[in-house]
Amino acid sequence: MVLGDPFRQMMMQRDEDGLTAPRDSDVVLDAPTILPSSTSSTVPSIGCDDFGDYELVEELARGGVGIVYKARQRSLNRVVALKMLLTGKHASSGELQRFQSEANAAAKLTHPNIVPIFEVGEANGQQYLSMAYIAGQSLAKRILAAPLRQREAAGLVQSIAGAVHCAHLQGVIHRDLKPANILLDASGTPFVTDFGIAKIRGAGADLTSDGDVIGTPNYMPPEQADGQITCVDVRSDVYSMGAILYALLTGRPPFQAATSLDTIMQVISNDPVPPRQLNPEVSRDLNTITMKCLEKSPARRYSTAEEFEQDLGRYLENEPILARPRSFLEAGLSWCQTHLLAASVSGSAVIFLLSATSIITVGYYREATQRRELEEVIFGLKEQLGKAEQLVEFERRHRRQRTESERIDETGTGDP
Ligand SMILES: Nc1ncnc2c1ncn2[C@@H]1O[C@H](COP(=O)(O)OP(=O)(O)O)[C@@H](O)[C@H]1O
Ligand SMILES: [Mg+2]
Repeated sequence: MVLGDPFRQMMMQRDEDGLTAPRDSDVVLDAPTILPSSTSSTVPSIGCDDFGDYELVEELARGGVGIVYKARQRSLNRVVALKMLLTGKHASSGELQRFQSEANAAAKLTHPNIVPIFEVGEANGQQYLSMAYIAGQSLAKRILAAPLRQREAAGLVQSIAGAVHCAHLQGVIHRDLKPANILLDASGTPFVTDFGIAKIRGAGADLTSDGDVIGTPNYMPPEQADGQITCVDVRSDVYSMGAILYALLTGRPPFQAATSLDTIMQVISNDPVPPRQLNPEVSRDLNTITMKCLEKSPARRYSTAEEFEQDLGRYLENEPILARPRSFLEAGLSWCQTHLLAASVSGSAVIFLLSATSIITVGYYREATQRRELEEVIFGLKEQLGKAEQLVEFERRHRRQRTESERIDETGTGDP
């Protein structure tokens, strides 16, 4: 995968602007969605502006693109949440199209775990989206407040998967599932929200095209991180739900790096650390279920959100789950694939090939030996590879220095 220079520049600029760079775990759990940034803000202010049928009560959240208020709808005397674009009257046609698309996607869906949309309207030249007010907190804030027990985490994600499957049946793929886009009401019931970058079947041209990277790096599947927008399907949402489950079990997303670009590179080329390694209390089955969602290849994930939901149900009912952990051969091959990339970057392809051969052999050997022994062998090989790569690098540096001193000896100066 080659990230285009314009994309690289955009990500670096956004990191410099603090828009996407995770500074600590708070920011990572609440990481913003990558979208074209807004320039000017013209939102109404609380208590000052008359906003049609609505009285703005409180600002709930402000992101890079939108703002959400708690408001009172005068005609029906009810509390609602109002979402609008930060750019307000100055919104570009692209922003307005995206906003309308969010409303269209969410309005199609009726499910007890999806925030219901009431209306889309315009007041004072500003478009708004009115929806049920969920009096609680986002799942991102909930994770930060206190860790969840694994059964609680599995139950929550099971409800989310049911809602997401309902969206899929209606032809809507969310594409930005993450803890900040799940709201919890006072009783802890989860509600999926923010269909801002959803893909709607039969809705004409997608507002994004191949090469665009949209979503939130820490929770986006590799095909989305790679800008292969046409490859994004229901299994991409399955990946993101696996990433949410991972964050609930471990307190951090599967991939997090100093910059969004580095996170994207990890999403594309690294295997996640199994949640059980970060939190030994995670059961083998829940570990297996989570890792199945996070497979790089969509074909190896659950093929629908419903299958994922049902396997979580089996886990919760203490029944045998359908997901199987990767075999050792599969793990070895996947490790080789990942390191093929690393090796081609570092130039130590020979060492890689030697190690790859050994790993594959170890994979076959698995049927006849103890798993633990094999893990030790793999661990040893990885260590050896690491050392060998260091040696290659040392040797390369040494050779460069020698050439440099020979040149100085010949010319008698440091000049080229
Ligand atoms: N219906 C709602 N009820 C209560 N709070 C909401 C509601 N919708 C959004 N919020 C708050 O606003 C935040 C941002 O909403 P979201 O739709 O995800 O906007 P953005 O597109 O800026 O990410 C949420 O994390 C939540 O805190
Ligand atoms: Mg959001």
